[in-house]
Amino acid sequence: MMARRKLVYEGKAKILYEGPEPGTFVQYFKDDATAFNAEKKAVIEGKGVLNNRLSEYFMIGLQSIGIPTHFIKRLNMREQLIRQAEIVPLEVIVRNYAAGTMAKRMGMDEGTQLPRPVVEFSYKDDSLGDPLVPEEYIAAFGWASQQEMDDIVSLALRVNDWMSGVMYGVGIKLIDFKIEVGRVWDNDFPRLILADEISPDSCRLWDIETGQKLDKDVFRRDLGDLADAYTEVAKRLGVLPSNVTHAPTKPTLIN
Ligand code: C5P
Repeated sequence: MMARRKLVYEGKAKILYEGPEPGTFVQYFKDDATAFNAEKKAVIEGKGVLNNRLSEYFMIGLQSIGIPTHFIKRLNMREQLIRQAEIVPLEVIVRNYAAGTMAKRMGMDEGTQLPRPVVEFSYKDDSLGDPLVPEEYIAAFGWASQQEMDDIVSLALRVNDWMSGVMYGVGIKLIDFKIEVGRVWDNDFPRLILADEISPDSCRLWDIETGQKLDKDVFRRDLGDLADAYTEVAKRLGVLPSNVTHAPTKPTLIN
């Protein structure tokens, strides 16, 4: 099935193929894990399957509260059909608690609750290590207009509210996450949509009771089995694909 598809772009964790119709792509989730700008690499069996399902779950949920996304439908275990969009070259990061680069930069303890959610932008460029950039740069270099930046902040905060609530409901604290947005053109008017993926690769998720990390930090910091952590998130949300469960299946009664 994959061999017939024309490759459009290969990233660190995903591949884009030409879609079946104009204006679509097929997004394939790899098992590859990278950290520290691909200095650390591994293949984590099952990660792609889990992220495909989890990203589907989040995108559908966000669509249900009126957030436009590039997600059209899941095609199979590792692939989803998405709408083509012109990617804004920014990593949009939302933080509820200090962690990662913010904790380091500000000398804060990881897990310190922030007075309010904070949205920040990094310029998407691996060769530069995705540097944090002020809005001035974004406007000056024409990556996004001021109006678009305001819209991106609103969208990011809506995603944060929904994601935080869903995670809280399954005993998980949403520490921070990254999204990417794209432009689609309706007639001559650009409109922003949520693109890329939302998965434990791009979020920090801590168990509320124990503080256990259930995200890519498990890989970055060698804290255990990454697939186990993602499986735990998928299980709690009820989105675990049936053929990665090891639970015995019962015969189903057909009426
Ligand atoms: O590394 P940092 O603390 O800035 O990351 C903030 C959040 O954004 C984390 O959840 C991390 O997984 C995510 N992120 C990402 N891709 C990047 C940088 C950060 O998904 N290139």
